[in-house]
This record gives sequence, structure tokens and C-alpha cells, in this order.
Amino acid sequence: MKWAKARWLGLILQVPAQMTLALSTEIPVYNGICSTTGVYNTSFTPANLPWNTYNYCNAPHVNAAHYEAPGDAPNATLIYLNAVIRHHKRTPDNLYPEEGELNQESWNCSNFLQFNHGGGTTHIFHETYSPPWHPFLIQIWNGTCDEGQLTYEGLQDAIHHGQDFWSVYAQKLGFLQSVNEEEIFVRTSVADRTYQVAGGVLTGMDPTMATKTFPVLTQPSVIDSIVPDYSCPNADNIRDAYQSVPAWNDHLQENANFQDQLCTMLGVTGNTAWTSWYDHFFDTFSSRTCHDHPLPCNASGACVTVEDAARVFAIGDWEYNYIWNTAENATTYSQLTFGVFIMELVHNFRLFRSGGETHKLRFYVGHDGSMIRLASLLGIGKVAPLRWPAMGSEIIMEVWKTTAGEQYVRIMHEGTPVPGLQWLVLDDFIDMLEAQIPANVFAACMGS
Ligand SMILES: *[C@@H]1O[C@H](CO)[C@@H](O)[C@H](O)[C@H]1NC(C)=O
Ligand SMILES: *[C@@H]1O[C@H](CO)[C@@H](O)[C@H](O)[C@H]1NC(C)=O
Ligand SMILES: *[C@@H]1O[C@H](CO)[C@@H](O)[C@H](O)[C@H]1NC(C)=O
Ligand SMILES: *[C@@H]1O[C@H](CO)[C@@H](O)[C@H](O)[C@H]1NC(C)=O
Ligand SMILES: *[C@@H]1O[C@H](CO)[C@@H](O)[C@H](O)[C@H]1NC(C)=O
Ligand SMILES: *[C@@H]1O[C@H](CO)[C@@H](O)[C@H](O)[C@H]1NC(C)=O
Repeated sequence: MKWAKARWLGLILQVPAQMTLALSTEIPVYNGICSTTGVYNTSFTPANLPWNTYNYCNAPHVNAAHYEAPGDAPNATLIYLNAVIRHHKRTPDNLYPEEGELNQESWNCSNFLQFNHGGGTTHIFHETYSPPWHPFLIQIWNGTCDEGQLTYEGLQDAIHHGQDFWSVYAQKLGFLQSVNEEEIFVRTSVADRTYQVAGGVLTGMDPTMATKTFPVLTQPSVIDSIVPDYSCPNADNIRDAYQSVPAWNDHLQENANFQDQLCTMLGVTGNTAWTSWYDHFFDTFSSRTCHDHPLPCNASGACVTVEDAARVFAIGDWEYNYIWNTAENATTYSQLTFGVFIMELVHNFRLFRSGGETHKLRFYVGHDGSMIRLASLLGIGKVAPLRWPAMGSEIIMEVWKTTAGEQYVRIMHEGTPVPGLQWLVLDDFIDMLEAQIPANVFAACMGS
């Protein structure tokens, strides 16, 4: 069956907060949730928009054309870097129960090889295929991609990201000299897409890395702090509580008819993984629009519209900001679930301060859940509401040394210095991080 291709309006308007400003009629407002500019249908932000416009498909990041050394101390030199990014764009991480019916364009992942071999053995790679006789085909889309798989386009974005990073920290500032494991420490989650993005970024930094090996550090999945994946039942209870109050429930109620329509269309009625928040709708729509795929249509010909998607994106922004940033107890939740990663940052910066750090750069590749917690705990969400961390979203912590020998930290978020976090005394920055780590995180998470 041939479906009309639903085209996505790249520009929708979102401010993930209750609206207080007067709105012009063009600005969609969804029961108090409204929006500002954002791009959701291409990795390449159109030239008529500011370079650092929110782009869900490919976040803005530091690059030579727009980078400025700190104005606070003109002759300061860069002496240390920690960077954290989200992986780049991928197939949907969530599937409709009848995904095969609802997906009109096949997903093609035959355009880069998925290597995963034991050292010293054949360089095997795996290819996903769904044999036409498989009785469960209705549960997956047509094509050669698994769910949540980095796409070829996402890999290209990762390579560009590495090029831009290098254009600033090596070519412009002369800080990084070469891509090797002495200078650069890389850590990822255990998800394939984060390893693949790390490989893309390193190749962008130095094309000769394409044929080399490089170690990427991971933690055991059960205690991995970067997703984060360690168990924290007490945090789960805290979050459940603030997602059971009117401050949260009101937005579900106010958008209930809309959600019912989506559920009927997409076959997820009564499925709480879909109905308790808009996360899965957001993911399944944005993955499609970012890859220029049509929005889902069901077997009766009903399709998700561009307006539906815009509304979901606005609600998704609101939910992310509420859950990790503004809800009563959101800070406690973020501290418990990301305290272990913040400890890692504290270890890094203390080691650096004591003169024991041997790397110039520690580079992390994580997920949206990593970025939103880090942004919130660094206080970026006090400057402006946080939006859903885009693909390739980036937070960089730069350490500078002035001619007088003082050390300062500057935080860059999506390529731009964060107001209020542009020039922090290193000691104060470390104290600020430490203040986000609950005393005895293990007991605080697991204790009764
Ligand atoms: C994205 O949406 C904008 C606004 O509707 C449109 O002008 C543009 O052509 C779209 N881009 C792509 C790649 O589809
Ligand atoms: C920066 O260095 C230049 C050249 O050494 C010097 O003339 C200038 O006074 C310095 N500026 C500051 C603010 O230290
Ligand atoms: C998938 O992409 C590869 C590489 O670009 C191409 O050779 C192949 O024909 C594509 N497959 C489909 C089914 O479009
Ligand atoms: C799956 O996609 C391929 C390539 O686009 C197409 O040739 C094939 O007919 C599709 N299969 C189904 C069941 O839609
Ligand atoms: C926040 O935590 C406090 C202390 O545990 C609790 O009394 C309060 O009900 C919580 N607020 C929400 C909205 O869950
Ligand atoms: C498709 O969506 C429409 C509108 O929500 C709904 O009435 C219809 O039952 C759906 N069809 C299927 C096959 O799910």
C-alpha cells in the first residue's frame, strides 16, 4: 500500500513550562504547554535560523566558526576538558505492538557494518534481517534495522561532531595534540550506539583512526552510572510520588482526548508504558521525522499529523523539565540516580587539581537520561527550562588557567557558554559537584 508522505513542519514552538507570556495565534499552546523554535526534521539546521537553534535531530555543539575563548581572562590557556554527549540519531527505541502495520517506510541499516568481534579473531559483523516467513513480523518494521539502532545518518553526525570538537580544541586552541589513549579517555554506556558514536567522534577527530583500535571504557551494566542503570528503588519511589500529584496529573488529564486518539490510532490503548507519559510517542515520532520518514499511519488509513507530532514534542519537553528539573523532589531524584556519575566527575577534577591526571580530555557518550540529569545538577535548568536533550546534545567542562595561575571552569552547553557557569573557580566548581552527591549513595538508594 502506498501512503501519502506526511511532511513534518520543522519549526514548532516550545517552552517547556506553563505559559506566562502573551502568545500570537501562530504559536501552538497545548493546555498551558507551549513552545519555542525547534527543528525536528533534519540534522542540518536551516541557514535562515540561528546556528544554535534547538535541533532535536542533531544538537548544536562547539565548532570553530562560533567558538570564543573566555572573555573573562583574555590570556588564559585551556588546561583540561571533560565532555559528555548524547549519542546521535537512531531508529525508534520503542515499537508499536503492530509496528509492521504502522510503519510505511522500511528502515535500512545495511549502509554501515555492525562489527562486534573477539580480539584476535575474524572481524565478524552482524546484519539484521527478518525472514518473510517469520510468524511475528507484525511486531517489527520492514527493513534491516533493530530498534534503537544508530543509523548511517546518525554515524555521519557523530563524525561531524568529532570534526567540530577537534576544530576547536586541537586546531583553534592547540590544546589537544593527537588522538591517542594517553591524551583521551573515552567512556560510553554498554549500548552499541554509544560505542559506535565514540568511534565516529574519534574518526572525526582524526580520519586515520578509522583503521585503528581504541579502548572505550564501560562499567558493568548492573552498576553503570552513565545511563544511569544502577538500581535505586528509593529514587523510583520519590519519582512515583511526584508523578502522582496534580502538578503532573493535570497535564495528562488536560491532554486525555488527544492521547486517547493517538492510542486508538496506534494500538496502545491501556498500555501504561505509553499512556503514563509521552516519552514513547515522542521517540517514535521524532525518530521518523529526523530521518525524513513519514509519521505512522494505521491500516485504516488514519495518520499521525504534523500537528499531533508538534503537540507531543511540546508535551515531551514539559515532562522532561518537570521530572528532572522542576518537580518538588526532582533534585533529590536526579542526585540519587546520577550521584555516582557526578562522583566520577569529582574524581576527575580532583585528580586534575592534585596534578595526578594524565589525560587531557575525558569524553563520555551517554543517553538523554544522562544529559538531562547532568544539565539539571549543574544548574543549567535554573537559567532556562530544560528541553528534551537532543541527539548529540553536549556539555563540556573546560578548565582554564590565567596568567596569574588561577584555575577556572567554564561550562559549555550545546556549543554556548552557560550564563552564570562561565567562570567558576575550580575549587568552587568541585564543591558544587560534591554538593550534588548524596552522602552514602548506595544506602540512600537501597536502604529501607
Ligand atoms: C522541515 O520542515 C520545514 C518547515 O516545514 C520545511 O521547510 C523543510 O523543507 C523540512 N525539511 C525537510 C528536510 O524535510
Ligand atoms: C595579554 O597578553 C598580552 C601579550 O603578552 C599583553 O599585552 C596583555 O596585557 C595581556 N592581557 C591581559 C588582560 O593580561
Ligand atoms: C540500503 O542501503 C544500502 C547502502 O546505501 C543500499 O545498497 C541498499 O540498496 C539499501 N537497501 C534498501 C532496501 O533500500
Ligand atoms: C520491504 O521493503 C523493501 C525495500 O523497500 C521492499 O522491496 C519490500 O517489498 C518491503 N516488504 C514489505 C513486506 O513491505
Ligand atoms: C517530596 O518529599 C517530601 C519529603 O519526603 C514529601 O513529604 C513530599 O510529599 C514530596 N513531594 C512530592 C510532590 O512528592
Ligand atoms: C486507525 O485509527 C483510527 C483513528 O484513531 C481508528 O478509528 C481505527 O480503528 C484505527 N484502525 C486500526 C486498524 O487500528
